Amino acid sequence: MKRIAVLASGRGSNFQALIDRIADGYIPAECVRLITDNPEAYAVERARAAGILVTVVAYPAYPDKQSYEAALLSAMEGCNADLFVLAGYMRILGETIVRRFSGRMINIHPALLPSFSGLHAQRQAIAYGAKVSGCTVHFVDEGMDTGPIIIQRCVPVFERDDEEMLAGRILVEEHAALPEAVRLFCEDRLMIKGRVVCILPP
Ligand code: GRF
Repeated sequence: MKRIAVLASGRGSNFQALIDRIADGYIPAECVRLITDNPEAYAVERARAAGILVTVVAYPAYPDKQSYEAALLSAMEGCNADLFVLAGYMRILGETIVRRFSGRMINIHPALLPSFSGLHAQRQAIAYGAKVSGCTVHFVDEGMDTGPIIIQRCVPVFERDDEEMLAGRILVEEHAALPEAVRLFCEDRLMIKGRVVCILPP
Protein backbone atom coordinates (compact mmCIF):
# COMPACT_ATOMS: atom_id res chain seq x y z
CA MET A 1 0.00 0.00 0.00
CA LYS A 2 1.41 3.39 -0.99
CA ARG A 3 1.87 6.19 1.53
CA ILE A 4 0.70 9.61 0.45
CA ALA A 5 1.24 13.01 2.03
CA VAL A 6 -0.78 16.09 1.13
CA LEU A 7 0.34 19.72 1.16
CA ALA A 8 -2.50 22.23 1.46
CA SER A 9 -2.82 25.87 2.53
CA GLY A 10 -6.55 26.48 2.77
CA ARG A 11 -10.02 25.01 2.51
CA GLY A 12 -8.78 21.53 1.65
CA SER A 13 -11.74 20.27 -0.38
CA ASN A 14 -9.38 18.37 -2.68
CA PHE A 15 -7.66 16.90 0.38
CA GLN A 16 -11.12 15.82 1.58
CA ALA A 17 -11.83 14.18 -1.77
CA LEU A 18 -8.65 12.13 -1.30
CA ILE A 19 -9.59 11.21 2.28
CA ASP A 20 -13.04 10.08 1.10
CA ARG A 21 -11.76 8.07 -1.86
CA ILE A 22 -9.16 6.34 0.32
CA ALA A 23 -11.87 5.54 2.86
CA ASP A 24 -14.15 4.00 0.24
CA GLY A 25 -11.33 1.90 -1.20
CA TYR A 26 -11.04 3.65 -4.59
CA ILE A 27 -7.46 4.77 -3.85
CA PRO A 28 -5.24 1.97 -2.57
CA ALA A 29 -3.18 4.13 -0.23
CA GLU A 30 -2.80 5.46 3.25
CA CYS A 31 -2.74 9.21 3.82
CA VAL A 32 0.05 9.60 6.34
CA ARG A 33 0.35 13.37 6.75
CA LEU A 34 -1.00 16.81 6.03
CA ILE A 35 1.69 19.45 5.71
CA THR A 36 0.50 23.03 5.76
CA ASP A 37 2.07 26.47 5.79
CA ASN A 38 -1.10 27.84 7.37
CA PRO A 39 -2.08 26.68 10.86
CA GLU A 40 -5.52 28.28 10.38
CA ALA A 41 -6.30 26.25 7.25
CA TYR A 42 -9.60 24.39 7.28
CA ALA A 43 -7.62 21.48 5.85
CA VAL A 44 -6.19 21.05 9.37
CA GLU A 45 -9.71 20.39 10.76
CA ARG A 46 -10.29 17.85 8.03
CA ALA A 47 -7.04 16.06 8.90
CA ARG A 48 -7.91 15.96 12.60
CA ALA A 49 -11.37 14.57 11.84
CA ALA A 50 -9.79 11.84 9.73
CA GLY A 51 -7.04 11.07 12.26
CA ILE A 52 -4.25 12.25 9.95
CA LEU A 53 -1.10 13.74 11.47
CA VAL A 54 -0.53 17.43 10.73
CA THR A 55 2.81 19.18 10.36
CA VAL A 56 2.78 22.97 10.22
CA VAL A 57 5.70 24.64 8.47
CA ALA A 58 4.68 28.29 8.73
CA TYR A 59 6.67 30.62 6.49
CA PRO A 60 6.79 33.57 8.95
CA ALA A 61 8.41 31.35 11.57
CA TYR A 62 11.63 31.22 9.53
CA PRO A 63 14.16 34.03 9.00
CA ASP A 64 14.45 33.46 5.25
CA LYS A 65 13.25 31.39 2.33
CA GLN A 66 16.22 29.06 2.54
CA SER A 67 15.56 28.00 6.12
CA TYR A 68 11.84 27.65 5.41
CA GLU A 69 12.66 25.37 2.47
CA ALA A 70 15.06 23.34 4.62
CA ALA A 71 12.36 22.87 7.28
CA LEU A 72 9.80 21.91 4.64
CA LEU A 73 12.20 19.43 3.05
CA SER A 74 12.88 17.77 6.37
CA ALA A 75 9.13 17.64 7.17
CA MET A 76 8.54 16.01 3.79
CA GLU A 77 11.35 13.52 4.23
CA GLY A 78 9.98 12.67 7.67
CA CYS A 79 6.71 11.50 6.08
CA ASN A 80 8.33 8.59 4.33
CA ALA A 81 5.74 9.05 1.62
CA ASP A 82 5.72 7.52 -1.85
CA LEU A 83 3.70 10.42 -3.24
CA PHE A 84 3.28 14.10 -2.32
CA VAL A 85 0.10 15.78 -3.46
CA LEU A 86 -0.08 19.57 -3.70
CA ALA A 87 -3.76 20.27 -3.16
CA GLY A 88 -4.10 24.02 -2.99
CA TYR A 89 -0.61 24.58 -1.59
CA MET A 90 -0.11 28.27 -2.19
CA ARG A 91 3.68 28.50 -2.13
CA ILE A 92 6.14 27.81 -4.88
CA LEU A 93 8.51 25.02 -3.92
CA GLY A 94 12.24 25.52 -4.35
CA GLU A 95 14.36 23.56 -6.79
CA THR A 96 15.90 21.34 -4.12
CA ILE A 97 12.48 20.04 -3.07
CA VAL A 98 11.22 19.70 -6.62
CA ARG A 99 14.30 17.71 -7.67
CA ARG A 100 14.30 15.60 -4.53
CA PHE A 101 10.73 14.41 -5.17
CA SER A 102 10.79 14.41 -8.94
CA GLY A 103 8.30 11.92 -10.38
CA ARG A 104 6.50 11.56 -7.07
CA MET A 105 5.00 14.97 -6.51
CA ILE A 106 1.79 16.06 -8.24
CA ASN A 107 -0.27 19.26 -8.30
CA ILE A 108 -3.84 20.17 -9.21
CA HIS A 109 -4.41 23.35 -11.17
CA PRO A 110 -7.83 24.87 -11.95
CA ALA A 111 -7.35 25.38 -15.71
CA LEU A 112 -6.45 23.41 -18.80
CA LEU A 113 -2.68 23.84 -18.85
CA PRO A 114 -0.68 25.27 -20.48
CA SER A 115 -3.42 27.93 -20.55
CA PHE A 116 -3.89 30.12 -17.51
CA SER A 117 -1.05 28.96 -15.28
CA GLY A 118 -0.26 30.74 -12.03
CA LEU A 119 -2.70 32.46 -9.73
CA HIS A 120 -6.40 33.18 -10.39
CA ALA A 121 -6.67 30.69 -13.25
CA GLN A 122 -10.47 30.87 -13.32
CA ARG A 123 -10.42 34.69 -13.46
CA GLN A 124 -7.87 34.51 -16.28
CA ALA A 125 -10.07 32.10 -18.29
CA ILE A 126 -13.09 34.41 -17.99
CA ALA A 127 -11.12 37.53 -18.82
CA TYR A 128 -9.64 35.84 -21.89
CA GLY A 129 -13.07 34.79 -23.13
CA ALA A 130 -12.29 31.07 -23.19
CA LYS A 131 -15.30 28.87 -23.99
CA VAL A 132 -13.92 25.85 -22.15
CA SER A 133 -11.72 25.51 -19.11
CA GLY A 134 -11.21 22.80 -16.55
CA CYS A 135 -8.55 21.30 -14.37
CA THR A 136 -5.19 19.63 -14.79
CA VAL A 137 -3.37 17.18 -12.55
CA HIS A 138 0.33 17.15 -13.38
CA PHE A 139 3.71 16.09 -12.07
CA VAL A 140 5.62 18.97 -10.54
CA ASP A 141 8.78 20.17 -12.24
CA GLU A 142 10.92 23.29 -11.75
CA GLY A 143 8.56 25.53 -13.71
CA MET A 144 5.29 27.15 -12.70
CA ASP A 145 2.53 24.61 -13.56
CA THR A 146 4.65 23.18 -16.38
CA GLY A 147 5.17 19.52 -15.46
CA PRO A 148 3.97 16.46 -17.41
CA ILE A 149 0.16 16.22 -17.52
CA ILE A 150 -1.55 13.20 -15.97
CA ILE A 151 -5.26 14.02 -16.32
CA GLN A 152 -7.38 16.91 -17.58
CA ARG A 153 -11.12 17.38 -17.31
CA CYS A 154 -13.03 20.19 -19.00
CA VAL A 155 -16.07 22.30 -18.26
CA PRO A 156 -17.87 24.93 -20.35
CA VAL A 157 -17.38 28.60 -19.62
CA PHE A 158 -20.64 30.57 -19.99
CA GLU A 159 -20.92 34.25 -20.83
CA ARG A 160 -22.78 34.94 -17.59
CA ASP A 161 -20.12 33.23 -15.45
CA ASP A 162 -18.33 35.07 -12.73
CA GLU A 163 -15.12 33.75 -11.18
CA GLU A 164 -16.93 31.97 -8.37
CA MET A 165 -19.40 30.19 -10.67
CA LEU A 166 -16.63 28.92 -12.92
CA ALA A 167 -14.47 27.93 -9.94
CA GLY A 168 -17.36 25.89 -8.52
CA ARG A 169 -17.94 24.09 -11.82
CA ILE A 170 -14.22 23.31 -12.12
CA LEU A 171 -13.99 22.19 -8.49
CA VAL A 172 -16.49 19.37 -9.13
CA GLU A 173 -14.12 18.05 -11.80
CA GLU A 174 -11.07 18.54 -9.57
CA HIS A 175 -12.65 16.28 -6.96
CA ALA A 176 -12.87 13.52 -9.57
CA ALA A 177 -9.58 14.15 -11.39
CA LEU A 178 -7.28 14.29 -8.37
CA PRO A 179 -8.40 10.97 -6.83
CA GLU A 180 -8.18 9.37 -10.28
CA ALA A 181 -4.60 10.56 -10.78
CA VAL A 182 -3.59 9.49 -7.28
CA ARG A 183 -5.16 6.09 -7.84
CA LEU A 184 -3.25 5.64 -11.10
CA PHE A 185 -0.01 6.56 -9.34
CA CYS A 186 -0.74 4.16 -6.49
CA GLU A 187 -1.44 1.38 -8.97
CA ASP A 188 1.98 2.06 -10.63
CA ARG A 189 0.21 2.89 -13.88
CA LEU A 190 1.91 6.20 -14.71
CA MET A 191 5.02 6.23 -16.86
CA ILE A 192 6.70 9.54 -17.66
CA LYS A 193 8.29 9.66 -21.13
CA GLY A 194 9.73 13.13 -21.58
CA ARG A 195 6.75 15.46 -21.35
CA VAL A 196 4.20 12.71 -21.93
CA VAL A 197 2.63 10.66 -19.17
CA CYS A 198 1.59 7.23 -20.44
CA ILE A 199 -1.27 5.58 -18.58
CA LEU A 200 -0.64 1.86 -18.44
CA PRO A 201 -3.51 -0.64 -18.51
CA PRO A 202 -4.46 -2.24 -15.20
C1 GRF B 1 -8.23 24.39 -6.14
O1 GRF B 1 -8.96 25.12 -7.08
C2 GRF B 1 -6.92 23.92 -6.72
O2 GRF B 1 -7.01 23.59 -8.07
C3 GRF B 1 -6.05 25.11 -6.54
O3 GRF B 1 -6.41 25.64 -5.29
C4 GRF B 1 -7.76 25.27 -4.99
C5 GRF B 1 -7.73 24.55 -3.69
O4 GRF B 1 -9.03 24.25 -3.23
N1 GRF B 1 -4.67 24.76 -6.70
P1 GRF B 1 -9.20 23.31 -1.96
O5 GRF B 1 -8.33 23.89 -0.85
O6 GRF B 1 -8.74 21.93 -2.34
O7 GRF B 1 -10.64 23.34 -1.60
